[in-house]
Amino acid sequence: MAQKKKILITWGLGYIGSHTATVFIEAWYDVIIVDNLSNSHESALEWIKAITWRTPKFYELDLRNYSDLDAVFEKHASDIALVLHFAAKKAVWESCHDPFLYYDHNILWTINLLKVMNKHKVNQIIFSSSATVYDAENLLPPFSETDRTKTTNPYWTTKLIIENLLRDMVMHKWFSTIALRYFNPIGAHPSHILWENPKWVPTNLLPFLLKVAKGEIEKLSVFWNDYDTPDWTCIRDYIHVMDVAEAHFAAAQYLFNRVEINETSETYTAEPIFEICNIGTWYWKSVAEMIWIVETIVDKEIQYEIQWRRSWDVAVSLANPLKAKQLLNREAKRTVVQWVEDAWLYLNNEKRK
Ligand code: NAD
Ligand code: WQD
Repeated sequence: MAQKKKILITWGLGYIGSHTATVFIEAWYDVIIVDNLSNSHESALEWIKAITWRTPKFYELDLRNYSDLDAVFEKHASDIALVLHFAAKKAVWESCHDPFLYYDHNILWTINLLKVMNKHKVNQIIFSSSATVYDAENLLPPFSETDRTKTTNPYWTTKLIIENLLRDMVMHKWFSTIALRYFNPIGAHPSHILWENPKWVPTNLLPFLLKVAKGEIEKLSVFWNDYDTPDWTCIRDYIHVMDVAEAHFAAAQYLFNRVEINETSETYTAEPIFEICNIGTWYWKSVAEMIWIVETIVDKEIQYEIQWRRSWDVAVSLANPLKAKQLLNREAKRTVVQWVEDAWLYLNNEKRK
């Protein structure tokens, strides 16, 4: 029996989903994307096609709609080897303002998806978790997967709940899961035609820094400079989005290699597993260092102003990436120059307009 080669990506036109799609398509997997375009544009499909020379199958649908999702599985399930589950609302401030929205969307979407997967016997999933589940204020960095967890807002809590939900599914022998705890994904595709292109204004550090560099915003707001770090600003573990995308590919290969073929060439899956892997670099950069790096790479002075402290910020978030290296044989390859340069070249790319 031929191996299944289709990969279904929930939220495949968003920032991380679209970059990950290019990696799988370039490795000759058939990719099916579901997305409701609420925070992305259909143009991402064109850019994926321009990069890979192939167009993934796309369904514009809302994951909240069970029957629509069921119809997609009805059509493709016999060939789907794996689901990459990126779907989540992800703004911390919004989740504090409207917790029900986050529990409702993030958790119910996942339950919908798992029910449909179970119905159609698709039993491998890679889940987008987050480094924000660590009890960062009380742990000594870098953080390892076995370290204590604690969350301070509904968005981060939904990640922890879904991890536990998926762990339970393994106990009941339904799914094999790898939860990837991303640290801070940044940067753009090296073609410089694909980056994050949300409908909501992004609130992360690099997009803001580059807007200041382009003169679209006058100053960067630096969220506080009284942290217990060498230059008093927060330290993060930034990782290039293509390193995050390739980590999904490595995790997929790990899952696929567990599928054995018996003498009669029937495939069957090995015992279900649940694994968590940090996706970070162990290299840290403070906000002050990031300002200096951007100034050096784009050769412009960045104006900034020290503002208030964001209630959810922690002083240091840093990955111990050894488990991903050992289990998935995968470590980050890109440098800080690529993080910034790829995004800067994207913003200045005339071909994209
Ligand atoms: P994104 O906002 O760029 O992409 C989200 C996509 O989902 C968009 O294309 C949007 O149109 C689509 N969408 C929204 N609601 C939908 C619905 N009901 N049905 C179908 N599609 C819907 O997000 P991202 O940054 O690519 O994040 C992907 C995943 O990674 C999320 O689970 C997020 O929590 C996680 N994560 C992200 C980061 C980060 O810094 N970007 C860090 C850690 C974890
Ligand atoms: C990095 C540093 C800010 C913007 C966020 C989410 C988290 C996760 C990843 C998905 C911090 C400082 C930022 C600005 C600033 N998403 N900063 N001025 O907060 O580490 O993580 O994205 O799971 O949920 O919270 O990333 O890029 O927002 O901030 O001074 O305009 O830059 O205070 O120290 P963060 P970030």
